[in-house]
Amino acid sequence: MKAFAVFPAQRRFDLINHPEPALASPHDVQLRMLDVGICGTDREICAFDYGTPPDGSDHLVLGHESLGQVLAVGAEVTRVKVGDFVVPMVRRPCADPDCAPCRAGRQDFCATGAYTERGIMRAHGFMAERVVDHEQYMNVLPAALRPVGVLVEPLTIAEKALQQLAQAQERLPWQARHGGAAAIGQEPAHADGTPGRAHRAVVIGAGPVGLLGAMALRLRGFDTYVYSRSLANDPRADLIRAMGATPVIAETTPVDALPSLTGGIDVVYEAAGASALAFDVMRQLGINGAFIFTGVPGRKAPVPVDTDALMRQMVLRNQLVFGTVNANRDAFEAAIADLTAAQARWPDLLPALITRRVPIEQAKDVLAAPTAGIKTAVSIGA
Ligand code: BGC
Repeated sequence: MKAFAVFPAQRRFDLINHPEPALASPHDVQLRMLDVGICGTDREICAFDYGTPPDGSDHLVLGHESLGQVLAVGAEVTRVKVGDFVVPMVRRPCADPDCAPCRAGRQDFCATGAYTERGIMRAHGFMAERVVDHEQYMNVLPAALRPVGVLVEPLTIAEKALQQLAQAQERLPWQARHGGAAAIGQEPAHADGTPGRAHRAVVIGAGPVGLLGAMALRLRGFDTYVYSRSLANDPRADLIRAMGATPVIAETTPVDALPSLTGGIDVVYEAAGASALAFDVMRQLGINGAFIFTGVPGRKAPVPVDTDALMRQMVLRNQLVFGTVNANRDAFEAAIADLTAAQARWPDLLPALITRRVPIEQAKDVLAAPTAGIKTAVSIGA
């Protein structure tokens, strides 16, 4: 079958002929792959800066943002049935009996680093005609979401972040207690029933992770601003407005002008992977605010940061900073629920995020050079 693979030692990537995977256990599921998204991680793997083939293999089949359809199931499979659309999770647990997160099904918090990630770390990915995996990693997608299902995985990054935000901000009389993660965008209602103040979020970056993060924040009622370069006269600014958020053009709004535009910033959701900008924006975080890192910056020259000012601010304003990677089943389920809600509320938004689809024969071209637009997907099956 056709698959797209990276050969790190040979510094090349190409369409290859790969052995067809077969069901190996009664809990295995065989998928026909439909769409596989391309993200910054895939580009890093194709720049040979990241990613590791499975042990004993000279190549890594790429692809971790995916959507497939169930072709065959093992005798004991109960989670999915033939014909279901499914989005597989990315990370697989390590084997260490003492890794509490992996043993609890929370390999997104694997404590040993010996996890594998399909299409990234020591496990083949989904950019192939067919794949086989254990049913426990499958998430069923409603058929109505088939055209945009490839956005589930990048949205899980925001979902896991917002779940942690809800948990962390239970330290405050903010919200969460009044309705859980769904209500974190709003303070509790006043005694007379009028709604509380919307919490304010600034998203840094208007790529797929930033736009999907802004969408997840809007669905929870946050007053949301997306801060990015190149937004002037860009269709992304219209998408940001369509979801009720505000685009902020970095070229004309310096970082220190942000709070005068937004008011006190409760949350920063960093999705640009640009560390100098991130630490600049951190200086603008408001009282009791939380700053969430999701981007993985490339290694550049060191950036000077005024650490005294930052430390003083973090203490005196009760601030919280956390990083988040990968996602567990809850985040996949929340992403599917949010895509359903977004489709109902803004029917044109999600299709507009997938700006290009190419056949697997053209994957090499789109990975060899940066592409314009928002999300490029490799469409493998119809
Ligand atoms: C993927 C995550 C993965 C991370 C680090 C991201 O692109 O979405 O699932 O954990 O890369 O490898």
